[in-house]
Amino acid sequence: MILDIVILAAGQGTRMRSALPKVLHSVAGKSMLGHVIDCARALSPRLIHVVIGHGADLVRETLDGNDLNWVLQGEQLGTGHAVAQALPYIIDADQILVLYGDVPLLRSDTLQRLSNQAGSSTLGLLTVTMDDPTGYGRIVRNGAGQVQAIVEQKDASAKQLLITEANTGIMALPGKQAADWLTSLSNDNAQREYYLTDVVALAVASKTGIEVAQPEDEVEVMGANNRQQLSVLERSFQAREALRLMTEGVTLSDPARLDVRGDVVVGRDIFMDINVVLEGLVTIEDNVEIGPNCVIRNSVIRRGSVIKAFSHLDGADVGEGCDIGPYARLRPGTRLGRGAKVGNFVETKKADIGAGSKINHLSYLGDAVVGEQVNIGAGTITCNYDGVNKFVTHIGDNVFIGSNTALVAPLKVGAGATTGAGSTITQDVPTGALAVGRSRQRTIENWQRPLKKSD
Ligand code: UD1
Ligand code: CA
Repeated sequence: MILDIVILAAGQGTRMRSALPKVLHSVAGKSMLGHVIDCARALSPRLIHVVIGHGADLVRETLDGNDLNWVLQGEQLGTGHAVAQALPYIIDADQILVLYGDVPLLRSDTLQRLSNQAGSSTLGLLTVTMDDPTGYGRIVRNGAGQVQAIVEQKDASAKQLLITEANTGIMALPGKQAADWLTSLSNDNAQREYYLTDVVALAVASKTGIEVAQPEDEVEVMGANNRQQLSVLERSFQAREALRLMTEGVTLSDPARLDVRGDVVVGRDIFMDINVVLEGLVTIEDNVEIGPNCVIRNSVIRRGSVIKAFSHLDGADVGEGCDIGPYARLRPGTRLGRGAKVGNFVETKKADIGAGSKINHLSYLGDAVVGEQVNIGAGTITCNYDGVNKFVTHIGDNVFIGSNTALVAPLKVGAGATTGAGSTITQDVPTGALAVGRSRQRTIENWQRPLKKSD
């Protein structure tokens, strides 16, 4: 079956009160339109057409992808008019699915179900029964329960307004009839718009079958017109993600206080305390523990590691059984070998730290290659930057760096070497040597402190 998908995203979204086009507002760190495009991609259509209008350039720049056909709708004359703009690019489709760019939580299996049910020769509608369907088009059925029409809120009679089955707007058009139907729509209605929903009456008139599917969860078909509704979608998405993680083997101390903004892969027997934020691509292996208030972005945390409170990881690869934080900051290019320890107020960047090495307090390691079983004393700094270029510090296995050492790169400290506390090390240190780079202590006996002057 040749499938084309049309996503409607031309509306302005005045109620967002924003310079940003509505469909670019984010749910879980990704634009609403981005979610809809991903849902569409899951069905492997021939082509995805995105109908844009308000903020068209920005929308296109933000989301470009070579599987997307951008269609400009100059004036927003209605949902039927919007879909019709994509018709010239739709050739020999068996089915056209219509999605909305501001309805981001639709699940691809729901869409697949609608698509399968409708096939290539019937019209498929996704409807939902709601306690309060105010604002939605109503599904009008005859005595035999067959769908006859969709009537918009503004065009509905008092009796029709009592119908609780609402149109979600998401539908499957049979490819052969779609062009005929869309070009024969009129705008003779309360809003002077070309309603996509009028294809239902045209299907009935041409004796085309109509199939109706419903989503598993109402939130799948909820749109966001303002920031309150956006926050409802955000929390629903987060609740769904928390549920998934728990199903896969993660204990969450509070499922309502976890935020996932990306793709998270988890093992089993993981524990996450409150206020953890996971962003981008994050992999967490078995038996990892994450303390409260940690932000973890684009990182891998291997088996049995512990990330303590208030740690911030970005682009880090944490080996097995590591001990991180509290208050550690691992920046991109940090790689920790098995059992390494990075303690409080330590920042690392492009740092390859060998197995069993410890940087327990108040240090900065940038552009560093550190061997195994190294001890980095409190307050150690790699001076990796001369204001123009960056240089690397190499530290061999079993080195002991004394507290408050400044390591001026480029620098090599050989295996088993030691540096004295408070040293500024500017020259390479040979294997096994002790390097001390500080002025000798001077001691003056019986020192007389200054006395307060009388005025
Ligand atoms: C539409 C449906 C209604 C349904 C509701 C669900 C029609 C006539 N009505 O109504 O039955 O219950 O959605 O939310 O289809 N858009 C364009 N170009 C246009 C007009 C709209 O791209 O010319 C886009 C909008 O940006 C939006 C979507 O289509 O994403 C829906 O448009 P909107 O005007 O909100 O339709 P509703 O009046 O809510
Ligand atoms: Ca709407």
